[in-house]
Amino acid sequence: MPITWDPDARTFHLHNGQLSYLIGVLDNGTLGQLHFGGPLAAGRSYAHLAGREFLGFDNRLGQPVPLEYPSTGTGDYRVPAIVVEQPDGSTALDLRYAGHRIVSGKPALPDLPATYVESDEEAETLEILLVDVPADLEVRLLYTLFAGRPAITRSARIRNAGRSRQTIRCAMSVSQDLPDSEWDLLQLSGSWARERHLRTRRLEAGLQSIGSLRGASSHQHNPFVALARPSTTEDDGEACGFSLVYSGNFLAEAEVDEFGTTRLRLGINPRGFGWALEPGAEFQTPEGILVHSDHGLEGISDALHGLLRERLARGRWRDERRPVLLNSWEATYFDFDEERLLALAFAAKELGIELFVLDDGWFGERNDDTSSLGDWTVNRAKLPGGIASLAASIESLGLRFGLWIEPEMVSPRSRLFARHPEWAVGIPSRPRTESRHQYVLDLARPEVVDHLFGTLSDLLRGARVSYVKWDMNRTITEPFSATLPADRQGEFFHRYVLGLYSLFDRLTKAFPDVLFESCAGGGGRFDPGLLAYAPQAWTSDDTDAIERLRIQWGSSLAYPLSAMGTHVSTVPNHQVGRTTPLATRAAVAFFGVLGYELDPLLLSELERREVTAQIAWYRDRWELFQRGRLVRFRSPFAGDGNETAWMVVSPGGQRAVVGHYRVLNRPNPGPARLRLRGLDPATIYRVTPWPDDADPVGRANAGLRGGDELMRVGLVVQTDDPADSRQDGDFRARLFDLEAVAAAGGADEGGENGDA
Ligand code: GLA
Repeated sequence: MPITWDPDARTFHLHNGQLSYLIGVLDNGTLGQLHFGGPLAAGRSYAHLAGREFLGFDNRLGQPVPLEYPSTGTGDYRVPAIVVEQPDGSTALDLRYAGHRIVSGKPALPDLPATYVESDEEAETLEILLVDVPADLEVRLLYTLFAGRPAITRSARIRNAGRSRQTIRCAMSVSQDLPDSEWDLLQLSGSWARERHLRTRRLEAGLQSIGSLRGASSHQHNPFVALARPSTTEDDGEACGFSLVYSGNFLAEAEVDEFGTTRLRLGINPRGFGWALEPGAEFQTPEGILVHSDHGLEGISDALHGLLRERLARGRWRDERRPVLLNSWEATYFDFDEERLLALAFAAKELGIELFVLDDGWFGERNDDTSSLGDWTVNRAKLPGGIASLAASIESLGLRFGLWIEPEMVSPRSRLFARHPEWAVGIPSRPRTESRHQYVLDLARPEVVDHLFGTLSDLLRGARVSYVKWDMNRTITEPFSATLPADRQGEFFHRYVLGLYSLFDRLTKAFPDVLFESCAGGGGRFDPGLLAYAPQAWTSDDTDAIERLRIQWGSSLAYPLSAMGTHVSTVPNHQVGRTTPLATRAAVAFFGVLGYELDPLLLSELERREVTAQIAWYRDRWELFQRGRLVRFRSPFAGDGNETAWMVVSPGGQRAVVGHYRVLNRPNPGPARLRLRGLDPATIYRVTPWPDDADPVGRANAGLRGGDELMRVGLVVQTDDPADSRQDGDFRARLFDLEAVAAAGGADEGGENGDA
C-alpha cells in the first residue's frame, strides 16, 4: 500500500516509488513534516528525521521546526497555513493529532473541482484529524497519492466543533517546509496579451509572493509556482511544482527564515478573506497539487500534464479528438450578418475546418462592446433566422457550430440590468466601476446562478450548439454581495467562485456533449479549476506567432497542450502588427488545440492550399499533439530569446514532431544543431521536414536517422554554408516530423540510414 502508518515511530509514509512524503506525529502531538521529495525505501523507520526532542510551540525562539499545517500565535512566527478567529477575537491555535484513516481511491471534494480516480486502485487517501481543544476546532488534512505518478494532492477541511461561531481568516491548501533555501522560485506572470511568461528569481530571506485579488486567477499571475535548484535544467536536477485547483483570488508565497529554511504556502488569498463557521459547519479548501522531479523541470511538467489531462479534465472531450475550429472574432469583430457568416463558414469548410465558432456580437443590440451583455437573445437585425437557423445552416455545410458567451457579465445598457440592477456586484452606497463598459453579476447569489443556468440551457437546447466559448472580460471591483451580512462580506470572492463552479457543474452535466472552452480576455483565468469543466482554454488574445512562443512555453510548464487553444491568425497581426509567414503561424499553433481566427475569404489561392494542407497534417497527428509528451529544448526566455525549440513525442516514442523557431535571422551564423531527447535510441526514424524539404536545412535532415544520432548528434538547424541562411528571413519556423520505421539493424530500410 502506498500510504503506510508506522504506529511505533508515529510516522506516515506516502510512497509510490516516484516520490516520498513523510509526516510525523511529534512528541507533543503536533504534526511535523519530515520529507517531501525523491523516493525513500518503504518499510523503514524514519522517526529519527523528526530530529532532537521537538520543543514545538513551546519554543518562543521560533526554531525552524518543519510543520505540516502551521498556525499562528503559539510560537511559530513564519507565515501560517491556518488562522481562525475565535469569538473573543483571538487567533492563536495549537493543533494536535487526534487520529487518522487511510482509504483507497479518492473521495470528491464538496462543491469544488478536484482531481479524481476512475478506480480505487489508482490512488490512496490519507485523512489526518487535528484538534485544537480550547477552540473546539477540527482540521482534517487530506492527502491523495496517485499510483505511478510523482504527484500528491492535499487540502484541508475545517470544522467548528464548538458552540459559537469562529471565523476562518486563512486556510491554505498547501504548506510545505523545506529544510533549505537553495531554490529558484519559478512563476508564470504577465499581463493581458502576454500571459504566463516564465519568471525566475532566487529565494531570499523574507517573503516573496505572487497572487491575485481580482476575483479571477488573473492575467498577471498564475496559481502555479515551482521551486528548482539553481543548477536544475529542463532534464536534470531537482524541482517541485505546486498548482492550485482554483479560479479565484490566490496566494503563492515563499518565506525564508533566519535559519535559511523555506516555507511555501499556496491557497485562497487570505487578504480580505473571512469565512464564518457556525457550530457544526465545515469549510473545504481548494485542492493543491504537489509534484516532484529529480530529473529537471520536464519531470514536473510531465507529472502535471498527465494528471491535469487525464484526471482533472473530465467528460467526453477529455479524450476525444478536438475539432479544428474557425473563430469569427478577428475576421469580423462585431460587424457581420448571416450572409457574411455563412460565406466564412463555407470557405472554412473547404479548408477542412470542422467547427465554426461565432464570437461576440450575436445578441441584444451588440454592435460594439458598450451594450447587451446579459441579454442572450439573438440580434434579429444581424441574424433574422436566429441561432437555431444559423446553426442548422452551418451544420448543413458539414460543420459543427459553436457560440461565444460571457455569462457572468451584464452591461449597464441591457434589459437584464434594467430588470435586476441588484444582481450586479457593487456596494449600494458607492458607484460601480465600469470596465469594458460592463459589470459583473453576483454569482454568490443562488438566484443569479439559477437564472444563468436557465438562460444557457435554453440557448443550448434551442439550437444545435456543439461548443461554447465562455468568456470573462473584466475582473471584480467593489466586491460586495447584498446577500451577505456585514460581518460575512469576506466570503464574497470565494462564494462567487463556488457559484461559478456550480453553474459549470450543472451545465456540463446537463449538456455532456458540448465542448466548453474557457476564456477571460484571453488567458486571464487559465487555471486548473476551470480545466475540470472546460478541457481547453483560450491561451491568450495575442495570436502573434512570435509572442505565442513565450506564452505557450510558459504555459507548458504547468499545463498540457490539450488545454491550450492555439490559433493561426491573419497578418499583419492584430495585436502587434507583425507579419510572420503562414507556415510559422501554423508551426506554433500546432502545439496546442489548433484553430484559425482569420477571414478565409481573404486568403490567396496559394494560402488556401497551404491552410488545407496544414489542417490535414495536424489532423493526422492530433493524438500526438493532444496526448503526446512535450519536451522543451530551447527556451525563448533564455539568452536573447532568439531561438525556441520543443517537441511532442508519442508515449512509445514512435512518432514525434520537433519545432524549431528563430525570431531574427542573423548574418553568417555558422553551423548549428539541435540535440533531441526523449526518443528511442535504438529506433530508426524517417525525418520529414515540414512544410517541405526544399531548403538546405530541410535537405540536410530529410531521410532516415537513428534515435541515437538524433539525440547525440542532433538535427541540423543551420547548415555550414553561410549562403544558405541568406534567404531565410526573420520569423522562420521549421518542423521535423519523425516516424519510426524500424529498430536499428532490424529492418531493410536501416541500410538507407543517412540518405537524404
Ligand atoms: C475577449 C476574448 C476574445 C474575444 C472578445 C470578444 O477579449 O478573449 O477572444 O472573444 O473577448 O469580445
